[in-house]
Amino acid sequence: MPLYLLVPPTHYEVSYAINPWMKPGTWSENPAAHRAEARAAFQALRVALREAGGEVELLDGVAGLPDMVFPANGGIVLDRKALVAAFRHPQRQGEEPAFRTAFEALRQRGLLDEVVNLPDGMFQEGSGDCIWDPTRRLAWTGYGPRSSPEAPAHVAEMFGIDHIALALATEQFYHLDTCLCVLPHGEVFFYPPAFTRAGLAAIHASVPPDLRMEADPDDAARFCVNAVALDRTVVMARATPRLKARFAERGYLVNEVSLAPFILSGGGAYCMTLRLDLTTS
Ligand code: ARG
Repeated sequence: MPLYLLVPPTHYEVSYAINPWMKPGTWSENPAAHRAEARAAFQALRVALREAGGEVELLDGVAGLPDMVFPANGGIVLDRKALVAAFRHPQRQGEEPAFRTAFEALRQRGLLDEVVNLPDGMFQEGSGDCIWDPTRRLAWTGYGPRSSPEAPAHVAEMFGIDHIALALATEQFYHLDTCLCVLPHGEVFFYPPAFTRAGLAAIHASVPPDLRMEADPDDAARFCVNAVALDRTVVMARATPRLKARFAERGYLVNEVSLAPFILSGGGAYCMTLRLDLTTS
């Protein structure tokens, strides 16, 4: 059973802006309502993952670190080894020791074997910029706005895996998981304007046309590309009927969750999870 780490939104808020989607002003107009909505959205996500056959492990958040609700950014876990993230923005750097401690605790419980760190001066924002592709047996890695250009090669070496590094061309799509989603049966769902010409060429070179699914601007803005796929179920934020139909044609059922309070921070379903049990062989 796929195992996901989730952080409940106890200390969640939108109190700063480090990406163009973040709206601290909107949040502060009615924090109590947003907080209540966030709690409901989190529960709905948890239920959706369970219903799709996932298991959930909870980690407590920390006061003053609101973006810990996006554990995808806390590290990369592959083959029972966790690489702790290093965040670009000071606002999130306090999460590093929190995630390191959490991975250590998982190691002590026998769920992980090893916890490793990045070299000094290198930024890498976890699975937000490293997406395992079980069909091609490689990781898609993103860099630019958050992760350092040298991070992809380092990550690949660290885990002994192949990878395809993609430069992210815009600040809107600042993590790879906002603009690329790998589906379990080989399809890659991606938003072309988020990539450079070289990045698009790399996607085209590795994914045959019948397995490419291009997201439209609406799908991207609704954070539907930031989705968690469990076999034939794809858990994502509220989608358009057209997108649901496109997934249905390919044999996937979209399970929508209203994630509005998290979209207010620039995140969706995928970044609210961190997969703990992926193996590369
Ligand atoms: N507010 C967070 C940030 O800007 C959102 C992170 C969403 N995570 C993701 N992997 N897309 O860092």
